[in-house]
Amino acid sequence: MNFLPEVFSINSAMVAGELVIGGCKSTSLAKEFGTPLFVIDEGDFKSRINGWKSALTNNFGASAGQVYYASKSFISVEVAKWILEADIGIDVCTGGELAVALAAKFPADRIEVHGNNKSEAEISRAISVGVAKIVIDSMQEIERVDRLAKAAGKVVKVLLRITPGVEAHTHEAISTAHEDVKFGFSIASGAASKAIAAAEAASNISLEGLHCHIGSQIFENEGFILATTRLIEVAAKFRDEFNRELAELDLGGGYGIAYVAGDTTFDPDKVMAALAQLVKSECARHNLKVPKISIEPGRAIAGPTTTTLYEVGTTKDVELDGGKSRRYIAVDGGMSDNVRPALYGAEYCALLANRTSNSAPINSRIVGKHCESGDIVIREIALPSDIGPGDLLAIPATGAYGRSMASNYNHMLKPAVIAVANGSARVILRREVEADLLALDVVEAPRSIN
Ligand code: LLP
Repeated sequence: MNFLPEVFSINSAMVAGELVIGGCKSTSLAKEFGTPLFVIDEGDFKSRINGWKSALTNNFGASAGQVYYASKSFISVEVAKWILEADIGIDVCTGGELAVALAAKFPADRIEVHGNNKSEAEISRAISVGVAKIVIDSMQEIERVDRLAKAAGKVVKVLLRITPGVEAHTHEAISTAHEDVKFGFSIASGAASKAIAAAEAASNISLEGLHCHIGSQIFENEGFILATTRLIEVAAKFRDEFNRELAELDLGGGYGIAYVAGDTTFDPDKVMAALAQLVKSECARHNLKVPKISIEPGRAIAGPTTTTLYEVGTTKDVELDGGKSRRYIAVDGGMSDNVRPALYGAEYCALLANRTSNSAPINSRIVGKHCESGDIVIREIALPSDIGPGDLLAIPATGAYGRSMASNYNHMLKPAVIAVANGSARVILRREVEADLLALDVVEAPRSIN
């Protein structure tokens, strides 16, 4: 319940008993913008982009490829501009994410397109705007991209998504490189070799390299090391078979961040140093030139930068077996603005943001305002017993997969996202209003469809 500097954004501090982010008091932010509120520490966001960029450049030197920010973690036009200004790339995996990047005037040649089931419209748009690369995920897609590129009179640069058969130590739902998974071409089954041969044979595809992404919120280096080793083996086999070397390996994202006390956020420089050493020695072992190495961090950039502010509405004491009790503290958001606890059992911590309290901590559960018991923000936390209606609770590290996975369940309005820096705040995504919800309702006469 104490302020944990390792979990809050860099420019956060307790000042005179109140949480201050980017020089703005929590109480003033809540008053001005309402709650629930996503507060992004803009300086922290920008420094994390630069941290990953310089870690890649410093450790890989001439073979540094591109940092593609994984926009699925959180994107808005303003954030795309920050990415643009920092001179890195962006990874999009739907037409919607591409549209946001293009709305920010993001140069297409720094956009990489992902997705395990891209529509023809998505592929055509990517080709017509001239994206840097399309990462191909299935045999059908090799044919589709080749055909659509031919129709557009272009040769499109592609990477093939490879499944290296790595069990990443994370929640099953966000582990992506073991064998029984929908993503990529498995090395072990021979699918990768078949895809490589098909891509090489296609006339309007230029196979630039290989991609893998082993999962998300990973803390150990081993998974990255094993996947990289296997990818380089495939690259060496490719050279032996096709007599040319692949230009790029994209190692994906997945770097873990701190959510609760005791967690540590991956240090970009340490992980890139370890990978650079490995890539160099594995390439030397196979007598390969070191290819360009690209990465796709999402959570590690966006996650730690953002704090959600909620207002407490009600509290309730519930008797448990054995004479114990639990205080339910209900806030004004919940699973519609942070589905991660319900979906992955994700853990968060919380801080009383508007004042200090000397009351004894009691066994508490922070819940939302949705109509189900699984609507939990924090399952188990000791919080001061005097927390009550009107208090503000701050949940740190909600920048990745919070607002980006938000829903309108129970017709809740998605919260605003504001950027704070040096005592100023501005809205970058406005709060939804009821008119946004009602805008989709249509009254239409039936039409005959044959
Ligand atoms: N590249 C690819 C191809 C990906 O699929 C992902 C994430 C990333 C990069 C970025 O991974 P990151 O660095 O953010 O871990 N909703 C889940 C996470 C899903 C990740 C999906 N792919 C969660 O809330 O934990």
